[in-house]
Amino acid sequence: MSLIDAAREVRENAHAPYSEFKVGAAIKTKSGQVFQGCNVENVAYPEGTCAEAGAIAAMCAAGEREIAEVAVIADSPIPVSPCGGCRQKLAEFGAGDVPVTLATTDGKTQATTIGALLPGAFDEDYMIKS
Ligand code: THU
Repeated sequence: MSLIDAAREVRENAHAPYSEFKVGAAIKTKSGQVFQGCNVENVAYPEGTCAEAGAIAAMCAAGEREIAEVAVIADSPIPVSPCGGCRQKLAEFGAGDVPVTLATTDGKTQATTIGALLPGAFDEDYMIKS
C-alpha cells in the first residue's frame, strides 16, 4: 500500500464530529515501518489532537524515532496544510529533506519537505550555552 493510501485508510477512523474535517496521516520510518494517525477531537475543543500527532505517537510507542517520509490527506479543495504545531512535531523526528506529500481525497497532491514546511525551525542548537 502506498503511504498516501495508508493515510487515506486511517482517515476513515478520524473522530471529527465538531469540525467534520477528517484528516489522515501516515509516517514511514527509516526501518520501513508505517504508522498511521487520524485527528481525534474532543468536546473541550483544545483537547483535540491532529492526525500527524497521532501518527507520531504511534511511531514513538513502537520505539521508532526517525521519520523517512510523510503523507497527509483530507477532503479539502487543495492539498491539506499541516498546522504550525504539527510542523514542529514533524521536525522533531525528521530531517529537513524528508519528503512530505499533502493530498486531497479526490487525488490532488503537493510535494514538499519537513524543512520547507518549517523554515527557521527552533532546534536544540539554540540551547547551546555560550
Ligand atoms: N487537522 C489535522 O488533523 N491535521 C492537519 O494537518 C490540519 C488540521 C485537524 C484538527 C481538527 O481536528 C480539524 O483538522 C480541523 O482543524
